Amino acid sequence: VDSRVFSQRLVLRGVEPEDLALISKWSLSAKANGLYLSPEELTLGECQEKHANGCFWNEHSRTFMIAQKEGEAIGTIRYWIRPNGQSIAVVCVKIALVEHRGRGFGTEAQRALTNYLFSTKRCDAVEMFTDIDNMAEQRCLKKLGFVLFESLTYDDHGRSRQGHRYRLTRERYGGLPEYRFTQ
Ligand SMILES: CC(C)(COP(=O)(O)OP(=O)(O)OC[C@H]1O[C@@H](n2cnc3c(N)ncnc32)[C@H](O)[C@@H]1OP(=O)(O)O)[C@@H](O)C(=O)NCCC(=O)NCCS
Repeated sequence: VDSRVFSQRLVLRGVEPEDLALISKWSLSAKANGLYLSPEELTLGECQEKHANGCFWNEHSRTFMIAQKEGEAIGTIRYWIRPNGQSIAVVCVKIALVEHRGRGFGTEAQRALTNYLFSTKRCDAVEMFTDIDNMAEQRCLKKLGFVLFESLTYDDHGRSRQGHRYRLTRERYGGLPEYRFTQ
């Protein structure tokens, strides 16, 4: 029942078999990933296999389609729970349709998923990695109350990136007005 997350204009929903062609297309497209996300390069067959194996939806990791409430899917957002220690969810967002970037959807989707993680999962913190030059993402994270945790080199699908790890703790989340009165 907790497979759908609603925000003002968006619904985040689980991946259906009919989404797999789009997921594959976006994963192969440099444009859909932008300059700061490395394409995963999954064929349709690989996407079907991942879906069948529960890779898009399991206890530790979930991928959501980001769709406008009227219907059209515009991207994906996923999280995975880091395996060691505290329960920390790492989130990665992709507004794949370029014409829908810069319209607040990235911020809205990340706010909705952050709410979901703190309200329905027992997460201690949410984290995001971002390329040092990804100013749009860094502005999103600032608006959403994330704090720079460390600057580092991280692996993004086989490509090494200079970037930052941002974190929002449950304690800080509880005190932020940004998250009140939103779904
Ligand atoms: C990064 C991304 C998620 C941002 O989502 P978005 O819907 O485009 O961004 P928003 O409209 O919510 O805007 C967020 C902020 O970034 C700013 N912004 C948008 N595009 C920008 C750009 N090209 N350069 C600098 N700032 C930009 C906006 O002005 C806004 O800040 P403000 O409210 O302080 O003015 C989205 O562009 C995307 O998916 N890009 C491709 C994949 C990617 O980089 N994912 C993140 C991986 S960590």
